[in-house]
Amino acid sequence: MNWKAHVKACIFDLDGVIVDTAKYHFQAWRNLAKGFGFSFDETFNEKLKGVSRADSLTLILDVAGIELSQEDFNNALIKKNYEYLGLIQDMDKREILPGVLRYLTILVKNEIPLALGSASKNARSILETLELLDFFDFISDGNSVKKGKPHPETFLACSKYFGLDPSECIVFEDSIKGIKAAKNGGFQSVGIGNKETLSLAEDCYLGFDGKHPQQLSSLFNQTTS
Ligand code: BG6
Ligand code: MG
Repeated sequence: MNWKAHVKACIFDLDGVIVDTAKYHFQAWRNLAKGFGFSFDETFNEKLKGVSRADSLTLILDVAGIELSQEDFNNALIKKNYEYLGLIQDMDKREILPGVLRYLTILVKNEIPLALGSASKNARSILETLELLDFFDFISDGNSVKKGKPHPETFLACSKYFGLDPSECIVFEDSIKGIKAAKNGGFQSVGIGNKETLSLAEDCYLGFDGKHPQQLSSLFNQTTS
């Protein structure tokens, strides 16, 4: 089967899908929370994945039972981002996750339009650092989106840009909220990570290593030739 007949566009989340930045977000949030006397583990961190900076802080403060003035809240956001930017300041192309560059290259060679669908306000500058910006026709990110994942706005902006129905676009996501956003918008989705965690996705890959877009045919319930 010709996979291109089905795959009209692909939408990629950034953190934890294209680049290994999820661990730096975790580190920076954990350090900030420690300052409030609150510690959290990887399981709680799953709840923060795909969530905007401000909503992540709200979640942490709620669970920790802490109230901050608006000023302190804003300062905490600045502090977290400052630490995060410090952690990624030496990042380069080597932190692109295995197989991603090859996968994106195959898609572009086959003229499949690509979009980025990320909650991050740092998305564009990270793509620039990784020299990946040119792969993407459209960027929907934390600066342009009002309703974060699991609301589908992030991805709907992409399908709208391409003039496609969501069902014709495939979303690649590592977060539960991102997979829910894809589902809520009527997109097909491929989870990147653990199958049990991302069980709502139509398919799940541990990563892109050894993967070929041809395998997306399985999402359309047909056999791959
Ligand atoms: C998402 C990450 O992609 O972006 C979250 O999964 C992060 O962990 C969010 O909090 C916002 O990122 P930023 O770069 O705007 O702080
Ligand atoms: Mg992510």
